[in-house]
Amino acid sequence: MSGRVEVLSIVLTIMTSDLKTILKNKSINGWRLFLLISIPMSAFMVAAMLNADLTTGSGVSAMIGFSVRWAVPFIFLVLAASSIHILFPGPLPAWLVRNRPYFGFCFATAMAWQGLFIFIMSSVFREYYLEDVYLLRDELEGTIGYIFLPAMVVTSFSIGRKYLTPIQWKLLHKSGIYFLWAYPFSVYWWNLFYYENPQSIDYLYYCAGFLAFAVRIAAWGKKRRQAANKNGRRNDISPVLTLLGGMVIAFGLLVATSGLYWQKSITALLTAPAWSANLVLWFPFWPFEPYLSLFIIGFGTMLLTPGPRTDTVFEAVSETK
Ligand code: HEM
Repeated sequence: MSGRVEVLSIVLTIMTSDLKTILKNKSINGWRLFLLISIPMSAFMVAAMLNADLTTGSGVSAMIGFSVRWAVPFIFLVLAASSIHILFPGPLPAWLVRNRPYFGFCFATAMAWQGLFIFIMSSVFREYYLEDVYLLRDELEGTIGYIFLPAMVVTSFSIGRKYLTPIQWKLLHKSGIYFLWAYPFSVYWWNLFYYENPQSIDYLYYCAGFLAFAVRIAAWGKKRRQAANKNGRRNDISPVLTLLGGMVIAFGLLVATSGLYWQKSITALLTAPAWSANLVLWFPFWPFEPYLSLFIIGFGTMLLTPGPRTDTVFEAVSETK
């Protein structure tokens, strides 16, 4: 039996070291990886353009949808990469983290195509465009996304980076990534739980967007647990709290999959006060229906993990007295 385990561990070591070597290959790292993805992607974009009817508003609108579908997987990947690495350290997650900026540039390339089609739509098919945009909020969400995007691209290079302090840089990139994840995630959530006849791609992208954020929550929980272990607080969570945390997470998962049953009533409840109904018109994503499940799962994870010790500061102060 132990012989078999040894053989298995040798095979695994060879496989991972092989994978490590493969993933260090220059052609699938850095700028070459970017070109490897973005050139065929742009070729597909041109091919789709040649087949689309760009003389109508609906044709251009279809190209807006087509181009953004190329972009979305990359922003989900960028959001999830470091958390996947925290949860499952290994050569593949390390490769993801190493190439995170280049996946970000792939996202930006696809979004630049979308930007071009939006420009055509808003300048040539203005009436169609105005009919398609229902709320000022939609316009604001899109515009904020397009403000973040170039700011993030420019500050990814030293020429732009030097104008920001490290804290400002981190703030810009973190909030930009969250915002650019939040936009498509909410689009697919509404496609599933509000509009009729969702397509399979709506399910696929909703699940991918959900998982991308869920792994962030799980990685956060793992770090809290590790911090607690360091402080010797491994067993600080009572069985009752453990059970409660598990139940809250299970409830969050139920909320994530059952929007069709609660969306109308929860939206009505959350927008009942006049100030809240007013916010719907202009405040991005308000009242956050797509994200409720993730808030709940985050809360459940907080209950399940002890987290860093908060009383250390007080102890340290009283010790010095
Ligand atoms: C002012 C800026 C923007 C405008 C005017 C705009 C406009 C549109 C329009 C008209 C569609 C419908 C396309 C169709 O017929 O299917 C669409 C779809 C979409 N847009 Fe935007 N958009 C903007 C910015 C953004 C940003 C920043 C994101 C974030 C990544 C984004 C993500 C999406 C997604 C995910 C879809 C659905 C694509 C699908 O059908 O799968 N948009 N947008």
